[in-house]
Amino acid sequence: MGVTPDLRVSLGRLTLPNPVMVAAGAFGYGLEYRDLVDIAQLGAIVTRSLTLAPRMGNPPPRVVETPAGMLNAIGLQNDGVDAFLLEILPQLRSYGVPIIASIAGETVEEYTHVASKIDRAEGVAAVELNLSCPNQARGGMEFGIEATLTAQVVSAVRQATTLPLIVKLSPNAGDLVSIAAAAVEAGADALCLVNTFPGVAVDARERRFRLATKVGGLSGPAIKPIAQYHLWRVHQALPEVPLIGVGGISSAEDALEYILLGAHAVQIGTANYIHPTLALEVIEGIRRYLSEHGFDSVEALRGALLDS
Ligand SMILES: Cc1cc2nc3c(=O)[nH]c(=O)nc-3n(C[C@H](O)[C@H](O)[C@H](O)COP(=O)(O)O)c2cc1C
Repeated sequence: MGVTPDLRVSLGRLTLPNPVMVAAGAFGYGLEYRDLVDIAQLGAIVTRSLTLAPRMGNPPPRVVETPAGMLNAIGLQNDGVDAFLLEILPQLRSYGVPIIASIAGETVEEYTHVASKIDRAEGVAAVELNLSCPNQARGGMEFGIEATLTAQVVSAVRQATTLPLIVKLSPNAGDLVSIAAAAVEAGADALCLVNTFPGVAVDARERRFRLATKVGGLSGPAIKPIAQYHLWRVHQALPEVPLIGVGGISSAEDALEYILLGAHAVQIGTANYIHPTLALEVIEGIRRYLSEHGFDSVEALRGALLDS
């Protein structure tokens, strides 16, 4: 009796076959999972954040499990944008899955340099700008923490590429709505909310921090209500802006919650470590839910949260 729902979603100029992506940094470059997961079925693969030069990342220990989540301090380990374009991208694009290149930088110039290299490559569907990066010129303050800095880096990257531009917000700004508005004003086609939350973990027995860097980013189910709160608030303030929800998704139901709150699409991060095929199960679960509840598309469900 159910309808066959249309899973396609459009985030401005970017159209995806379904709304479920794997999040930056939590699925490698995607290729690492090709023997475990039918990666061609994903809504999109977001790469780990790419920088101009290769980065070794932080010293270990740089990952620690916490209640209902994990703290990581990987430190943007990656092979650099040139190696990605030369060695990884040609293999990845043969799968036909939309590829979203996440970019990071310590200066506005680094971001724009990386973005312009990606712009010249073939087979990248969009750029995702990771704003949770320390700004060298401002003593290590995150770009995404202030509206003026956000606008500065977004408009510079906007000029460096004609690809659809997703801006991924840091939850560490006091008021995400003003940052979101600044990013859209400066040229973002869509917003992704949110990156990890700062946290520490202590080993009382050893009387030490559990991470070599002391501070890491908290992700996983522990952050879901806060991430959903931010997404919902930004959706209320900017209802026309395509939003991608990320934080703590570990089931189709979690993903559906984000869509009901106004998300066009979702990303799955930490849960991939426990369950690498989760994204495919979430796609199937969304399809089943839409069909069982008589919605003919994801669009029809978006924001369809009852008020009382
Ligand atoms: C190990 C690890 C590495 C990550 N690396 C990146 C990264 O390179 N760039 C980025 O924008 N976000 C990165 N993230 C953040 C995730 O993309 C995501 O925003 C966050 O983990 C919240 O989603 P989750 O609760 O589903 O994991 C990383 C997260 C984890 C756990």
